[in-house]
Amino acid sequence: LTSPLELNNGVKIPGLGFGTYQTPADVTYDVVTKALKAGYRHIDTAFLYGNEEGVGKAIKDSGLAREEVFVTSKLWNTDRGYDKTMAAFEKTMANLGLDYLDLYLIHWPANHKQFGDEAEKINAETWRAFEDLYKAGKIKAIGLSNFMPNHIDALLKTAEIKPMVNQIEVHPGWPQTEAIRYNERHGILTEAWAPLGEAAALSNETIAQIAAKYGKSTAQVCLRWGIQQGILPLPKSVHEERIIQNTDIFDFELTEDEMDIIGALRNLGGQCKVPDQVDF
Ligand code: A2P
Repeated sequence: LTSPLELNNGVKIPGLGFGTYQTPADVTYDVVTKALKAGYRHIDTAFLYGNEEGVGKAIKDSGLAREEVFVTSKLWNTDRGYDKTMAAFEKTMANLGLDYLDLYLIHWPANHKQFGDEAEKINAETWRAFEDLYKAGKIKAIGLSNFMPNHIDALLKTAEIKPMVNQIEVHPGWPQTEAIRYNERHGILTEAWAPLGEAAALSNETIAQIAAKYGKSTAQVCLRWGIQQGILPLPKSVHEERIIQNTDIFDFELTEDEMDIIGALRNLGGQCKVPDQVDF
């Protein structure tokens, strides 16, 4: 679909991925099969989603070589800490039925609201397990999800290996500019979950006007806005025409003004989660 990006350890990652959050387990095989047919070579799942099995099976049955598909999964919050992480990783790999993972992420940082002063230690121990799995060659790249600059600052005090990726919520209305700049400064690639604001951004009139100018949909403009900032969007759909439509974003370019106008939108909806305020 697009030329790959390069992570800080030299690993190549396709610049657009296919999200599977809220894709029910019983349709995941079919949906991921359609995504691979549409040209996606990067599939994003998580233990939490309950659909790792369908993702792995669709990849195996696709006829594509394992190295042609980039697969990400994530460690769920109940599995933080060194030993639990090691066990959870094995479970994820058994679910996927694959013999290595391309990218493994800590799904959410332990925060002070829930864990008080223990939070940093928990994240450090989880990360130490990630480093060992990476060194053992079981994962090609390791990273974070929903980590804000304060969480990464703390992690970097003890980290031996710098995270390669941070996957955060980014969409029009929730631009996360500071977090993106922070990641950039640290050589960490930002991936965007809910790049369409879980559909909330799609009915915005300003985005619709810009979309009309290019003969594109509002979804395509939202994704393009992400791509042009150098971040990696992970749109989700269970409908084949949308799965295909969301890949067709490489033949137009938003102007700087349009990028700014979209970046200045607020309160469109979507989760807009603040990682220090969640209870998990
Ligand atoms: P569906 O899965 O029924 O196609 P996000 O990736 O931000 O989480 O957004 C996913 C939501 O946006 C889902 O509700 C999905 O619906 C919808 N969606 C995905 N792609 C498109 C599109 N191209 N046009 C309209 N809605 C879309």
